[in-house]
Amino acid sequence: MSSVDIPREQWATRVGFIFAAVGSAVGLGNIWRFPFQVGQEGGAAFLLIYLLFILLIGFPAMLVEFVVGRRTERNPVGALKQIGPGAWQYVGWIFVVTGFVILSYYSVVAGWTIRYTILGLQDGYLADAGEAEAQFVELASGLDAIFLHAVFMIAVIAIVAIGIQRGIELAVKVMVPAIIIITVGLAIYAATLEGAGDAYGYYLSPEWGTIAAEWQSILPAAAGQAFFTLSLGMGVMITYASYLGEDRNLAEDGAIIIGFDTAIAFITGLIVFPILFTAGVDPADPGAGAIFVSLAAAFGDLTLGWLIGAVFFATVAIAALSSAISLMEVVVSYAIDELGIDRVTATLGIGGAIFLLGIPSAYDLVLLDLFDLFADQILLVLGGLLLVILVSWSLANLAIDELQRGIGDLGPLGSAWIWAVRVPVVVVLLVALALGILDYYEFLTGPFAEWLGEQ
Ligand code: PHE
Repeated sequence: MSSVDIPREQWATRVGFIFAAVGSAVGLGNIWRFPFQVGQEGGAAFLLIYLLFILLIGFPAMLVEFVVGRRTERNPVGALKQIGPGAWQYVGWIFVVTGFVILSYYSVVAGWTIRYTILGLQDGYLADAGEAEAQFVELASGLDAIFLHAVFMIAVIAIVAIGIQRGIELAVKVMVPAIIIITVGLAIYAATLEGAGDAYGYYLSPEWGTIAAEWQSILPAAAGQAFFTLSLGMGVMITYASYLGEDRNLAEDGAIIIGFDTAIAFITGLIVFPILFTAGVDPADPGAGAIFVSLAAAFGDLTLGWLIGAVFFATVAIAALSSAISLMEVVVSYAIDELGIDRVTATLGIGGAIFLLGIPSAYDLVLLDLFDLFADQILLVLGGLLLVILVSWSLANLAIDELQRGIGDLGPLGSAWIWAVRVPVVVVLLVALALGILDYYEFLTGPFAEWLGEQ
């Protein structure tokens, strides 16, 4: 059964749509993943390639999702059924599964940010790196982590259950301005720190030698980060654009959204690196947990670090929430459109199931990696790749026609866009997928096999 007879919801305002998309884009990817990628991949060299990819790969790919969503006014599964010939119609399924899996551990990491906010306010942070690490290991998995994962999921469920205009749109109109104001404030504070000068040098002046020597690892990391941070490859932008209802200039909206997302990631670097440099913490320490450990240790070292740290982690938690609701909305919109389930029931059922799937990630860090690597490096890239191939190679006319609604005749720019997708975007995603699969295999036969052996 389908609910086509119930009028579909829409954004109340253009700003509402833009805020929701910015809220989705700005998240753990900007404030947690971005700085540790910069640290791992050689500082400014990575930043430069990343910015290039945002423009050349991210922008055209985002427009692809927008046109599919607005044209079909459907969730990703319904959208692909409508426009995808033959087996292509199943691509939408990958999106829904990806959303389900990503949210399950995204919520666990978001739970850590809540924990670290409370930690700052209650006891302050530990300045000793070894102690900070031991504390992270203790807090990041086990009952504590499962509890905060539940708290976070309840917040996500509450907002999404209320619906598009009064739930998501209202929430992002409060959250997004708050994120922007606080990050700018923290960057100004960070500029006053003693390590700021060295940090800017590291962050802002690329060494060409680093790019030449390490491009094999910088390129896929930068491409993956560009996709992840813009919420591409899993139908979020299809879903959000499906609630547009009127013809707007999608290229302009996309540029604004990307501008904000990139600005927040960039500014986060201006916060994180001065803090790390001032406390003498090495920014190249790799890994997902490392940013919690090194930042907490750095906050432990600064005057009023407990307060700055609590504000910082609270901002990350808010940013994670506005992204998590978009992941949830992909799955929920599928249940509403395709299965005819009402919004509240769908949100509760799906939210509960995602909570359960997240328990292993909250139980052990290795299991979190197992989910994260699979979703991030394989599912996300695979879904994105199939979608851009389908749209650019077999639905080019439809895509250009849809993009022109609200803009007018694009002339040669239309085919420039399609060709940017057909070749560069497809090639980059193919390479990223191949490397992602290799990496996952290494993880399965390495750390994961070891972990299994210990159980
Ligand atoms: N863009 C979000 C972030 O930067 C993550 C995300 C990825 C959200 C995919 C939705 C879909 O944290």
